[in-house]
Amino acid sequence: MKQPVKLIAGNWKMNGLGASLAEVEALCAALQSQPAACRVALCPPSTLVERMARTTAGSPIEIGGQDCRAETHGAFTGDISAAMLKDAGAILVILGHSERRQGYGESDLLVSAKAEAAFAAGLAPIVCVGETLEQREAGRAVEIVRSQVMASLPLAIAGRAFAVAYEPVWAIGTGLTPTLEQIEEVHRAVRAAMIERLGLGIAATPILYGGSVKPDNAAEILAVPEVGGALVGGASLKAPDFLGIIRGA
Ligand code: 13P
Repeated sequence: MKQPVKLIAGNWKMNGLGASLAEVEALCAALQSQPAACRVALCPPSTLVERMARTTAGSPIEIGGQDCRAETHGAFTGDISAAMLKDAGAILVILGHSERRQGYGESDLLVSAKAEAAFAAGLAPIVCVGETLEQREAGRAVEIVRSQVMASLPLAIAGRAFAVAYEPVWAIGTGLTPTLEQIEEVHRAVRAAMIERLGLGIAATPILYGGSVKPDNAAEILAVPEVGGALVGGASLKAPDFLGIIRGA
């Protein structure tokens, strides 16, 4: 069976100034001379979305935001709407990242509402799920991730373009990764939960792995069954590192 094209998405988190666009220019040049075998996306901070969209215009790189508000507009100081991201050139948006679930108390219900707002604005969400170390050590990783999938994906997501990202909280920025068997186990559970909630129509929707993906472990992680790509933090900030991951897909 032909494998679906993988999605390698970089999450720049709160990193990057105008000068960082040099990395994006280098990435575009490298992908022009040797096209990627996968989809490539970059999710910069909001301040860079529009400039990065301009820098990557004409390249296959897709641009995304890192979060959006569920409401369309209004008195929400400091927040950004899905339509604003779209207007700035984004086509994707990361939602429910553990740094938002933990730092801002975002619930599954809120993530689901944000996903609906993303669709309404024409953005494809990347919905993040993942267990803490405490939950994994208690043997609850699959149960936690399954319940996050069931409650964070609105029913209206069926038939739309989206992705789920499995990011174990303890693997983010730590250099630690689950074993390949653990990644496969959770990804299979995510797929089963997605099918249970949304039906077989989502059988080809990518499930990304995220958490300390680097050039030297990307190829083996990306070869795990049900891993449809990667959500990359630190290693997406420098073109050579991100390229090393892209070339492994
Ligand atoms: P790192 O790749 O830096 O571990 O971050 C992963 C992540 O949180 C991507 O969203």
